[in-house]
Formats: sequence, C-alpha cells, structure tokens
Amino acid sequence: MPTLVLATRNAGKVRELAEMLAGSGIDVRSLAEWPDLADVVEDADTFAGNATKKAVATATALGLPALADDSGLVVDALDGRPGVYSARYGGPGLTDPERCERLLAELADHGQTSSAARFRCAMALARPDGAVVLREAAWEGTVRGPRRGENGFGYDPVFEPADADGTAAQLDSPTKNRLSHRGQALALMVALLRDQPELLAD
Ligand code: IMP
Repeated sequence: MPTLVLATRNAGKVRELAEMLAGSGIDVRSLAEWPDLADVVEDADTFAGNATKKAVATATALGLPALADDSGLVVDALDGRPGVYSARYGGPGLTDPERCERLLAELADHGQTSSAARFRCAMALARPDGAVVLREAAWEGTVRGPRRGENGFGYDPVFEPADADGTAAQLDSPTKNRLSHRGQALALMVALLRDQPELLAD
C-alpha cells in the first residue's frame, strides 16, 4: 500500500484530510508520528508557495511522499487579508474564537458588518526526489457575525458558505469536506492520483 504523509501539525486539518482519504487504499500518516521534525517556516507570499515549501521539505526529510496544504481566508472588504497570514492574524497567542472576533472588529473599523470572502487552498504533493504537483481551489461565501456553530475550526463560525445554510461551523464534517476549499483541492489531487498512481510509487 502506498504511503502518504500529511505535512501538517494542525489536528483539525489532519482529521479532515484523513477522513477524505479514508478508503482510498493509501496508508495515510501524519507529522504527529515525527514530533522531532523541524517545522517549516511559511514565509512565501502565496498559498501555492507555502504549500510547495512544506510538501518538499517533508518529503525530502522523511523520504516519503508528502501532501501539504496552505489555506486561508481572503476577505474583500479587507483587501484580501488575512490571506496567507490567516493562521497568525491578530498575533500568535489568540484562540480561534478570538481571531474571529478580531476579524469582525476589523470589519467594523471599515464600517462593515459583513463582506464577501472566500477560503482558498493550495495543495502540493511532493515526492522524495523533489518533484511536485499542485492543485488549487476556493470556497466562496460571506463573513458575518455573530459566531455560530461548534464544528470545524478557525474562521468557520463566521463564514457563511454560498452553497450551504448557516456557517461552516454548523455543517457536519462530511458536508464541509465535500464543499470546502480543502475538499475541492483534495478531490482534484485524488483524481490526479487515480490517473497517475506512479506519483506515490517508490
Ligand atoms: P495554514 O495552516 O497556514 O494553512 O493556516 C490556515 C489558517 O487559515 C488556519 O489556521 C485557519 O485560521 C484558516 N483556515 C484555513 N482553512 C480553514 C477552514 O476550513 N476553516 C476555518 N479556517 C480555516
């Protein structure tokens, strides 16, 4: 069975990706099994650049194919922020709910109670020889408070997807996995692996 390492320490992402890859015939591992592997500095200014950097660093360090994503929330009223800085928005010490509140406060500073927005995801699959394939997707919606829902993570409680009722945090995980930016990007990647299984071969 081919092995694929999920190059993230974000437990929410590992759960989502592992669920989506269940039944694919791939032995899915995560970085939780390699606690000592150094974290990759996400200093690229695009989602694609950061995803590629994480995938290549993990695949070359472990000698195994690695899948990395970089994602974030792009808010029109904030000129595209927080974008690639979504995980760090507002400073490193904030909780997810505090980040949501910070975002709503910044929208209010701009005289807005809501804004068109989208989650973007770039997904990179790297082989130990450094070869990379990339797929990207977006999930359109609206940012609006108050926070609603207990599922998901990050900005889900204040993101209303255009293709669902309520917020992303009110969706059950199969529904979110089917609709989301990460779900769409992974579906593209799984289709690619179906066409080119040699991408995971030794
Ligand atoms: P990354 O680990 O650099 O990709 O950080 C992505 C950040 O964007 C996360 O820490 C969240 O704040 C946000 N984000 C990405 N995907 C989602 C999602 O599906 N729901 C909510 N927030 C997300």
